[in-house]
Amino acid sequence: MSLQIDILTVLPELLESPFNHSILKRAKEKGLLGIRVHPLRKWAVNDYGQIDDYQYGGGAGMVMMPEPLANAIETLSQEGPFDDIIYMTPDGERLNQKMANGLSLKGRLLLICGHYKGIDQRIRDKYVTREISIGDYVLSGGELAAAVLVDAIGRLIPGVLNDETSALFDSFQDNLLAPPVYSRPAEWRGLKVPDILLSGDPKKIEDWRHEQSLQRTRQRRPDLLEGEED
Ligand code: 6GU
Repeated sequence: MSLQIDILTVLPELLESPFNHSILKRAKEKGLLGIRVHPLRKWAVNDYGQIDDYQYGGGAGMVMMPEPLANAIETLSQEGPFDDIIYMTPDGERLNQKMANGLSLKGRLLLICGHYKGIDQRIRDKYVTREISIGDYVLSGGELAAAVLVDAIGRLIPGVLNDETSALFDSFQDNLLAPPVYSRPAEWRGLKVPDILLSGDPKKIEDWRHEQSLQRTRQRRPDLLEGEED
């Protein structure tokens, strides 16, 4: 196994399907990616399955209690150390391609999906090594964000993609958006595929694609061209 990902969640049902199709499915079948979804209620503090409680200081919304999370983290850690314990949270570091590249080279990750008002700060202080957000908007829980992160990481694990699907040509891999793509027929409802793509000249095609990438990036995401730091 190249990368083993454990996910802690109160809603395991939400994570049943996303990893069982297409590229991630293939990654699992190839033995390059292992994903285990753990229902946090397994570590509930009582027979009611309680894992959340009111927050100190008052205010609307429940907070995920420290004890179930700590017990879950410690139980899973007995199988071996995690390279990172990641808390999925809108106030985390915003996910980008560079982070995904780095995480795809790790061996073992734990993702914690938050719910309600989030998790008790002491868990963040004591166990969490990284906090990741998938963008500046709020989701009702960390599960869909975790699914996004796993997808972004999983496809980058060495050996998952072949030459044809290589991630090297993805948008963002070089801080550029991908160029437009076309398939058959060469003329469809009066709309033509650019001649260059039919020219059979690999150098010209590559230059054209690069130019299109630059143009798209300038128009849609000029910020990518400025900030070379990430
Ligand atoms: Cl990781 N969690 C939640 N609840 N909302 C988000 C997010 C994460 N990333 C962006 N919005």
